[in-house]
Amino acid sequence: MLLEIDDLSVSYRNDEGEVNPAAIDVNLTLDRGQVLGIVGESGSGKSTVSMSVARLLPSPPAFYPKGRILFDGTDMLRLPLPELRKIRGKRIGVIFQDPMGSLSPLHRIGDQLVETVLLHERMSGKAARALALEWLGKVGIPDPAVRERAYPHELSGGMQQRVMIAMGLMLGPDLVIADEPTTALDVTIQAQVLRLMRELHKANSGVLLITHDLGVVSQMATKLAVMKDGRVIETADDPAAFFAGPKHPYSQGLVREARRMELK
Ligand SMILES: Nc1ncnc2c1ncn2[C@@H]1O[C@H](COP(=O)(O)OP(=O)(O)OP(=O)(O)O)[C@@H](O)[C@H]1O
Ligand SMILES: [Mg+2]
Repeated sequence: MLLEIDDLSVSYRNDEGEVNPAAIDVNLTLDRGQVLGIVGESGSGKSTVSMSVARLLPSPPAFYPKGRILFDGTDMLRLPLPELRKIRGKRIGVIFQDPMGSLSPLHRIGDQLVETVLLHERMSGKAARALALEWLGKVGIPDPAVRERAYPHELSGGMQQRVMIAMGLMLGPDLVIADEPTTALDVTIQAQVLRLMRELHKANSGVLLITHDLGVVSQMATKLAVMKDGRVIETADDPAAFFAGPKHPYSQGLVREARRMELK
C-alpha cells in the first residue's frame, strides 16, 4: 500500500489552550495508480488530513493525538525532520490552491525550479536548468527559456498554477497531494490544468486530490471519501456507483446540490 492512514486524529490548540479537533479517527488508503478524491464542505478537515500526510501543518498549533500515516510503510508522524525533507518534494509532490503562498515572490521561477531539483538530485546546475525548462514546456508555459526569468507576480494565475504543477511533478513523486489545485482558476483554465495533472503524473503514482467540486472528482478520481466535521463519513471504491447512489444523507445532499449546479 502506498499510503495508509490509520485512525488519524489531528487537533489544533489555540493560545488559550483550547483544543479544536479537526480530524477524528480518519482511515484512508491509497494504492499506486489510484486517485483518491476527498470531498466535503469548508472546514470539514480535508486540508488538515492531506497536509498531515506531508507533515506540512505548522506544529504548534497542530498536533497528533493519535494515529499513523504510513507512506510506503514509513510512519510520517514519527519521521525525523532531515528524513522528512528528503521525501517532501521528491517522493511526495504537493500542489496547493494558492501558488503565491508557495512560490517565493523574490526569486525567478526558473531559479526556484532549479533549486528544488538540486535539493534532491545529484545533478549539475546545467542539467537541473535543462530539466526545469523541459518541465516549464511540459506544463504549457510558452517560450520557457524566456519565461523562466519571470517572477511569479509577472505571471497570470493560470500560469502560476502551471509552475506549481511543474514543481510538484517534475521529480516524479510516488505520491501527489493536490489541495484544491484549480479552485482559484477560471473554469476553462481549470479543465486545462486538470488535464495536465492527469497527463503528467507518473502512471504508477498515487494522487490525493482534495476538492469541494464533485465534477472534478467524477472526472479524476478512481475512489473517493466524503468528510464532514473532521470525520470520513463515506468512502467509495467506485465513484460512478457513489454518484448513482450515495449512502449517507449528507453525501446525498452533496450529489443533489452538484446536480442542481450542473443544470444551471
Ligand atoms: N492553523 C489552524 N489553527 C487552528 N485551527 C485550524 C487551523 N487550520 C485549520 N483549522 C481548523 O480545522 C478545521 C478543519 O479545517 P481544514 O482547513 O482542514 O478544512 P477544509 O476541509 O480543508 O476546508 P476548506 O474547504 O475551506 O479548505 C476547521 O475547523 C478549521 O477552522
Ligand atoms: Mg482546505
